[in-house]
Amino acid sequence: MNERDGVFSKDWRARLSHSRERGKGFAAPGGEFTRALYEWALTEEGSELRSLLHGQRVVELGAGMMPYGYALAAACQAKNFVAVEPYYSDVQEISIQSFVKENSGIVSRIPYKVSGQDMLDYLTNEPDDLLCIVACGIEDCILPGADYKLKVEREIERTLKPDAFFVSSHSDLCPQGLDSVLLSYPRPLNPAVVERLRLHGGKDAFDLHGGALARIRGNAKGYS
Ligand SMILES: C[S@@+](CC[C@H](N)C(=O)[O-])C[C@H]1O[C@@H](n2cnc3c(N)ncnc32)[C@H](O)[C@@H]1O
Repeated sequence: MNERDGVFSKDWRARLSHSRERGKGFAAPGGEFTRALYEWALTEEGSELRSLLHGQRVVELGAGMMPYGYALAAACQAKNFVAVEPYYSDVQEISIQSFVKENSGIVSRIPYKVSGQDMLDYLTNEPDDLLCIVACGIEDCILPGADYKLKVEREIERTLKPDAFFVSSHSDLCPQGLDSVLLSYPRPLNPAVVERLRLHGGKDAFDLHGGALARIRGNAKGYS
């Protein structure tokens, strides 16, 4: 397949086929995972999540086509937002632009960037101790293999700001060098579906956000 046809095709199956040829992860379209986290953060039960992202440089790994990573970061008043998405970066850019336009005056605008790099390349080029990282729907079947996954997990540990969390919802990325807490929450628009959410961080993050975490855990009781 012509490289350009695969990258910019209107048909997601052509993008999937292109991603198979590249061997750096699969262009599975997703759509619901980041959205569920965003919508949960807007509920009373999930509202404490907003304090975890407040003021942070938020990076979403595998942001997909929809603007919900930006929406989450903006609703949390993050410092800025980067969507890392190698296969749908053109669609992601347009989605964020539309979200910003449609929600002007409702959600405060924050600076953002869309990166077309894959997550390993992106993180490798970031400095130590800087980011708050979000991944939704990044299951093992999305990534090219165990070696790639381990490298990404090590880069998450290296680049994560000491007082910030790696927020991993419906995701198998699980950095072993960080402490974590496992939670569950119902999708606000489809409560029959319960999402698993892990917050990974170091001592500073758990110390700083201990109160918020306790409240999130209290609110999530009954779903774990
Ligand atoms: C299941 S979708 C989830 C998308 C989005 N988070 C959502 O919930 O709608 C997985 C996403 O990861 C992206 N992806 C696949 N391999 C990747 C890689 N190596 N680096 C970054 N993103 C990748 C895919 O293109 C796809 O958009």
